[in-house]
Amino acid sequence: MTERIRLARPDVGEAELEAVAEVFASGMLTMGAKVGEFERLLAEACGTDDAVVVSSGTAALHLAVMALGLGPGDEVIVPAYTFPATANAVELCGASAVLVDVDADTFNVDIARVADAVGPRTRAVLAVHLFGRPLEWEELQTAVPQEVVLVEDAAGALGATYRGTPCGALGLMGCLSFHPRKIVTTGEGGAVTTDEPELADAIRRLRHHGIAPRGDFDIAEPGLNYRLSDILCAIAIPQMQRLEQLLAARERVAGWYTERLEHLVLTPSAAEGDRHGWQAYVVQLDRRDEALRALREEGIEAQIGTYALHHLTGYRDRGSFPGADRAFARALALPFATTMTEDECDRVAAALAHFV
Ligand SMILES: Cc1ncc(COP(=O)(O)O)c(C=O)c1O
Repeated sequence: MTERIRLARPDVGEAELEAVAEVFASGMLTMGAKVGEFERLLAEACGTDDAVVVSSGTAALHLAVMALGLGPGDEVIVPAYTFPATANAVELCGASAVLVDVDADTFNVDIARVADAVGPRTRAVLAVHLFGRPLEWEELQTAVPQEVVLVEDAAGALGATYRGTPCGALGLMGCLSFHPRKIVTTGEGGAVTTDEPELADAIRRLRHHGIAPRGDFDIAEPGLNYRLSDILCAIAIPQMQRLEQLLAARERVAGWYTERLEHLVLTPSAAEGDRHGWQAYVVQLDRRDEALRALREEGIEAQIGTYALHHLTGYRDRGSFPGADRAFARALALPFATTMTEDECDRVAAALAHFV
């Protein structure tokens, strides 16, 4: 029987086990040295002054919106095609997520439509670099008034660069995820990157019940427990140290896929001068549903791209979004991992070729 090809295969092994053993030996399973070490490596990789690790990418988004003090009456622009956490973080703070359509080819938000959606209540844009493709940041900056805050949902964009600047350093804050389908994984985990010390302090307080790290044990405003344990931070450290290698491996696999598929389906890429983060390799084709079913029957773990939010009960009746409809109907995420072989890419491409 042919081997299953997993959707994702986290690249973790002996080095990560050793790092976890160090945590066990230290006796500090949370709030120990590994937290700070991971945060320093992240800030360095993103080129920001600070990074604050939290328990998931969703927690990062939630705390970023909380740290901005957004709530009822405020509007935050989010793409109509994204992982629901982007909009959920806004709505859970009592603010309104205003959906804006995406460019169906790049999957990223349509910037001209962002400009149209800005109104008197617009406080921020949660701008997603979907699947690791950097969003056209300068265009976004010029499309919105200066008082509208730009926050990156860079959940899948660690390592990606926009015109040489790392994703995570483009917005006032950047929100990262370390879920197992991401380039660096802690199983579950996330981070907020920023150059603003006050925001970093606010995120540190909010992830820890509202208690200031070196404060007087007072709680000025209620917080959560969104801390990331040292065990999980330890897993990330060896991966951060070989981030360039991990990215190069993902670029190699993406190249193999593109060679085999670019004449068959719409293949993903970054804009000229940018570096794709390759969180996922997502192609587009008309017969997506048939292809998805057939690939799975052959033991190839393909998946849909992500969600069209306005198809979900919680986000219905917020307008029509033909770009998101098209992306949702046509996107197919192929198995993708640093350790994929050319033979595996051949198998996936051959299976897909029947549906074009
Ligand atoms: C664009 C986007 N935002 C947010 C998240 C949420 O991250 P997490 O799963 O770490 O909570 C994801 C996760 O896949 C994502 O793809």
